[in-house]
Amino acid sequence: MNSRGEPDLKQLLARSALFFNDFLSRRIVPDLHRRVVLPLAEPMIYSLDAPGKRLRPVLCLWAAGIQPGESGRAFSEDAPASETPTKRELAACYAAAAVEAIHTYSLIHDDLPAMDDDDLRRGRPACHRKFSEWAAILAGDALNTYAFELVGMAARSMERTDLLPDLLTALAEGAGRMVCGQALDLDTEELAAEQRDIPNPRERLNEIHTKKTAALIRASLELGAILGGVEQPSERAKFREFGEGLGLLFQIADDLLDVRGDSAALGKTAGKDAASGKLTYPAQYGVDESERQARELRSKLETLAERLSLPAPELNLAFQGLPAYVAERKS
Ligand code: IPE
Ligand code: IPE
Ligand code: MG
Ligand code: MG
Ligand code: MG
Repeated sequence: MNSRGEPDLKQLLARSALFFNDFLSRRIVPDLHRRVVLPLAEPMIYSLDAPGKRLRPVLCLWAAGIQPGESGRAFSEDAPASETPTKRELAACYAAAAVEAIHTYSLIHDDLPAMDDDDLRRGRPACHRKFSEWAAILAGDALNTYAFELVGMAARSMERTDLLPDLLTALAEGAGRMVCGQALDLDTEELAAEQRDIPNPRERLNEIHTKKTAALIRASLELGAILGGVEQPSERAKFREFGEGLGLLFQIADDLLDVRGDSAALGKTAGKDAASGKLTYPAQYGVDESERQARELRSKLETLAERLSLPAPELNLAFQGLPAYVAERKS
């Protein structure tokens, strides 16, 4: 709690990421070790179990109405009895892991020489640098497939297989749109390198960002809302709208960090976008105007967050704090 008696957003974020990381290391990593051949399990685990911010899993948990307990080891044998995960918590963790698996696969492939050609990710050598290109390609493919299995686990662990069609559609839509966004991003980079005209660059930029980044962030919220019992299409649409806006804000901040951030804090190479001629917010609008648009989007999202149907007012407050967190993040 802060001095005004409101839950501290950073604390709740950290606690939720810890809760998810405990699930990942206690349930997911052992499962991969057991079932996947070693040359593939190693790069999958290397990239998935790396120090990511876990924003998407946390969004999924919160949208499902979950506020993790304080121990950070709910899935460990010595977890306090009061923090034994409920069926819904377990289901939300599986769904959160599904989204993080898709996200991690997108990062592994994004760093490949044929895509953004980056050597550093999450503060470590990129997957293809640590292992090999074939290992990185296949680890990405396998994480993509594994994500859909995890969604099945989510529905089964809550004994709600009736939710599967909606869960699968939300994940597939988010993942598919991400691939479309990546294709547009790289196609645009190629057009610029060949000094060819990019028609309607501003519309194109928004389409790239909405698809490559916002779609999966939107899906994280939608999966959570489905598991949290949000049934009304109009109520689910509010989560989608908030998620899409937050995702766009997230990518504008990512573009600005590429210009202003430092590689050590980011855990990835800064300055890459300008060097490769990417169509980004700062490239299209300049830094000041990008920041102005980010501020505008941020206040719109703060209003939208008040209207999300969540079981606890603390969660509405947490969602209201997220746009500022996303816009002001340093890593
Ligand atoms: C990086 O995402 C890729 C983008 C969509 C900008 P994150 O900044 O969430 O990366 P991790 O998960 O914390 O490493
Ligand atoms: C992120 O775009 C999009 C996906 C990985 C799907 P970027 O290429 O800007 O991400 P970073 O900056 O390499 O993390
Ligand atoms: Mg990229
Ligand atoms: Mg990249
Ligand atoms: Mg970037």
